[in-house]
Amino acid sequence: MTDEMVSVYPTVGELQNACAEQIAEALKPTSEGQTMTIALSGGSTPRHMHEILAGLPDVDWSNVHVFWGDERTVPPGHEESNFRMARESLLDRVPIPEDHIHRMAGEKDPATAAKEYEQTISKVFGVTPPDMPRFDIILLGMGADGHTASLFPGTQALDEQERYVIENHVPQQNADRLTLTFPVLNAARLVIFMVAGSDKAAAVEGCIEGDYATRPAARVQPANGQCRWLLDAEAAARITGGE
Ligand code: 6PG
Repeated sequence: MTDEMVSVYPTVGELQNACAEQIAEALKPTSEGQTMTIALSGGSTPRHMHEILAGLPDVDWSNVHVFWGDERTVPPGHEESNFRMARESLLDRVPIPEDHIHRMAGEKDPATAAKEYEQTISKVFGVTPPDMPRFDIILLGMGADGHTASLFPGTQALDEQERYVIENHVPQQNADRLTLTFPVLNAARLVIFMVAGSDKAAAVEGCIEGDYATRPAARVQPANGQCRWLLDAEAAARITGGE
């Protein structure tokens, strides 16, 4: 992460507003009728950003395909489901065709769900491994430990270099997760990290310093794309001297 990729906002509300506006702008097709693809993040920070995004007037949702960067191994109606959070805060509020919503099947056996999601991605993007799908936007969060999507420190998914989607046992969560892999994240046109809260400040500093070994998010560096880090003042405190 280099300084020019970082934007800091005084409050989490201003961060969420800026993120929504940047996503709306990035979802504008660069050519007539172009289909746009976005992978949403899980966690709690995106919820209000989604609500803001749903109210922005200039997104043509009929042209957008929505995916997820990761999912918990729970049914779609579960309170921990990333799909449910996005459904409530965004997808039920915008005119997106149902067949443009591609959720990870958290209710299924993780290995099966990962393979099925990889097939879905191949079908929509028209690619198969080793070629990588190139998402227009991938929205990511980051945990206090530097995980992103469900790529947690010390887990086997960190080393996957061929598959698009993989099941990942996460001892820190005592759970299995589904996650896009680093090759997919790093094939994106645009990755946006939206990170808020003082508990993230050390991991943000680690990513700035290139601590690839212990902060998985530091390894998100799109080869032919842009990576933006949108932070609130608390998350940025250790890189702006605010702490
Ligand atoms: C998930 C996420 C995860 C999340 C971070 C930050 O499924 O939990 O995809 O990577 O983005 O844990 O979560 P918060 O926004 O809740 O801090």
